[in-house]
Amino acid sequence: MSSETASRALEPPPAPALPVHVAIIMDGNGRWASRRLMSRVTGHEKGAETVRMVVRACRELGIAHLTLYAFSTENWQRPASEVNALMGLLRRFIDQERAELVRNGIRLHPIGRLERLPDDVREALGRVVDETRDNAGLRLHLALSYGGRDEIARAARRIAEAVQAGRMRPEKIDEAALAAALDTAGVPDPDLLIRTGGELRVSNFLLWQIAYTEIFVTPTLWPDFSRREFEAILADFGRRERRFGHL
Ligand code: IPE
Ligand code: IPE
Ligand code: MG
Repeated sequence: MSSETASRALEPPPAPALPVHVAIIMDGNGRWASRRLMSRVTGHEKGAETVRMVVRACRELGIAHLTLYAFSTENWQRPASEVNALMGLLRRFIDQERAELVRNGIRLHPIGRLERLPDDVREALGRVVDETRDNAGLRLHLALSYGGRDEIARAARRIAEAVQAGRMRPEKIDEAALAAALDTAGVPDPDLLIRTGGELRVSNFLLWQIAYTEIFVTPTLWPDFSRREFEAILADFGRRERRFGHL
């Protein structure tokens, strides 16, 4: 063994690659509650605690972007009682977390069809977005009233309007132009998508952005999702070979 090889053998192994952007489909609150003969809303309340845990973990681990799927365009079709309870929970959560987000340098960025949200939720969101605008730490993208197809359709409309107004020529419409018209403009695509609750589907989440995202599905229900499991998934990601279609 050469002396160079010997000294290299003493070095610690390289740290596994950390994702720049983690996206999470937070599923399983209802089942978690039903199994305990509790109301689905109790499951959502418990799920809010997991949100706090995962935001904190991302901040401490140095992950740059976290996108959380909190409410889909399809979720509006749930019974009004559940939708109303979720909106109330959301508003309380935003107000409660406000000081914590400001203190920890987290920048909040809601994505989705926000005009469908109740006024009080939109106002609470607007306050936190304003207060965290200059923060340089974790960027927390909250998908609310979000659907990937809706986002792409709105992007197409924005581009069509630019063309009609003479601000853009049709031959300039390419992948970069479409990406720049999405709610996630300027945000790198997710490296890792985690879905809790075991369903093997994407449920209309970030359809454009996940073209080459690594996917991890866990049967764990969202309220039971732990920091330990989160870190184990990050370690699994670090061992994956990403090829992006290349050899
Ligand atoms: C995910 O949990 C949270 C939202 C969709 C708001 P669910 O409410 O979908 O829980 P399950 O999938 O029915 O268990
Ligand atoms: C996906 O979960 C949406 C969110 C987690 C916000 P759903 O429970 O709505 O998805 P499906 O119905 O299982 O596809
Ligand atoms: Mg579900």
